[in-house]
Amino acid sequence: MAEAQEINISNQAREFLDSNHQLLINGEWVASKSGDKIAVIDPATEEQISEVDAGNAEDINDAVAAARSALTGEWSKIPSHDRAQILNKLADEIEMNFDVLSELEVLDNGMPMPLAQYSIASHGTALLRYYASWATKIHGSTIPVSPGGAMNGESITYTRREPIGVVGAIIPWNSPLIFAILKLTPALAAGCTVILKPAELTPMTALFLGELIRNSGIPKGVVNIVTGYGETAGAALTEHHDVDKIAFTGSTEVGKKIVEASIGNLKKVTLELGGKSPVVVFPDADLEKVIPGAARACFFLQGQNCMAGTRLFVHKDIYEPVLAGVKEMAEAFTIGHGLIPTNDFGPLISATQKKRVMEYIQIGKDEGADLLSGGESVGDKGYFVQPTIFSNVKGDMRIAREEIFGPVLCAESFDDSDLETIANKANNTSYGLSGSVWTQDISVAHKMAMLIDSGQVSINCHAAVDPAIPFGGNKQSGWGREFGKEGLEPYLKTKATTVIF
Ligand code: NAI
Ligand code: MG
Repeated sequence: MAEAQEINISNQAREFLDSNHQLLINGEWVASKSGDKIAVIDPATEEQISEVDAGNAEDINDAVAAARSALTGEWSKIPSHDRAQILNKLADEIEMNFDVLSELEVLDNGMPMPLAQYSIASHGTALLRYYASWATKIHGSTIPVSPGGAMNGESITYTRREPIGVVGAIIPWNSPLIFAILKLTPALAAGCTVILKPAELTPMTALFLGELIRNSGIPKGVVNIVTGYGETAGAALTEHHDVDKIAFTGSTEVGKKIVEASIGNLKKVTLELGGKSPVVVFPDADLEKVIPGAARACFFLQGQNCMAGTRLFVHKDIYEPVLAGVKEMAEAFTIGHGLIPTNDFGPLISATQKKRVMEYIQIGKDEGADLLSGGESVGDKGYFVQPTIFSNVKGDMRIAREEIFGPVLCAESFDDSDLETIANKANNTSYGLSGSVWTQDISVAHKMAMLIDSGQVSINCHAAVDPAIPFGGNKQSGWGREFGKEGLEPYLKTKATTVIF
């Protein structure tokens, strides 16, 4: 742990944290009906840095009504070219406020500053500009049909792509601003209206974004932001009969609740849920790339990352050097507050998450895995846990099967040469989100990539993310895809129209 250092917060961030935070409904900041508040905590200090309103079902009702009238009102008449301009304007606004947004993200989430800056620049504004360019390219087609039945005579059939409607977006705390943007942008490009429910643990950057949205020319009611708890505001949104679609990122457990809550009006649902992704290293892999790659795959965002490569499978011939290298990297991280530039490993998000991770570390010890590195919490303030490596993990252990969502790497060696046998081990979880294959042999690389049952596989890197790369889960990692053109589809519906001459 780095020595305690003074944390300096800029005046702009301080003023924002100290200001009164309300709900964005129909273009205005309004107080929650209940008057209840949620304390916002810096996970690196455990100190309260701000408070926000706790919206509940009544506030959700107002937000849904605003989104519904905006959908059929001004927003539906704005040409696609202007929707694109608006999204680009919002990206400009984010760029102009880049420093304060990065700072707020670090204070709220705990991530190291370089990571906040990287994610906002390379995913946030990039996503806005990417989907801005899709706004003008959404169109249907004309379809040749055979005459007969109702189509007695010459006819033309064409399709239109229409916005799916009012979207409820529920997002987690591990990358708060990026998730807000990832949900808003394809929805707005498609012409939908949105009620965004940020995670109760990390509401700050979404609220700042709300003010930028007001400045960017997006009509009132098109984006509404209701901070609040999952069990109240989140649940009300998922049950609401005037919401057409829910876009969710979070736990598999809540994902299943959302499916149940959506049955009432059969709203459409996309889910991006947990993961337990494999990193598979063949004996010919380039160790200079594998070692930092495997360390980052697991310990990025302190392992609080759905794509995290938490199961490391290494061929027995290079198991020892790979593990020694990953251990050296894990022990070289500087743990501490994300606003101190030399720190590269932050806290977990909350006391609950820290407790959960420490319990899993105990489970790993009890199950008989070898603790190679870490395993302890760090310091007496802040939710810090050491990067932790278990070796000789067996596939049936709970630490190998359940999502821990913390800095815990589970390593095991293999000596099989049959790729299907290796893939069976890699696929031995209920998840299927990400994964990576490390080898110089292109046949092994592509064959293995085909055999891994997940929505995304990277070769000689882990978790390749770009606005254009479709991303999402197989099995219990979710429904549907985000990013890329595929990420636009869930926000659109098709209407077929036939005209008889
Ligand atoms: P969570 O799934 O409870 O929270 C995510 C979002 O869902 C938050 O905005 C929350 O307010 C909302 N939510 C909670 N209950 C809800 C309900 N009944 N109806 C509607 N919305 C609801 O995740 P939590 O409890 O913060 O973390 C628990 C575990 O979930 C983590 O340890 C990790 O395994 C997993 N997780 C996975 C994420 C991912 O990126 N796929 C992100 C966050 C958590
Ligand atoms: Mg929860």
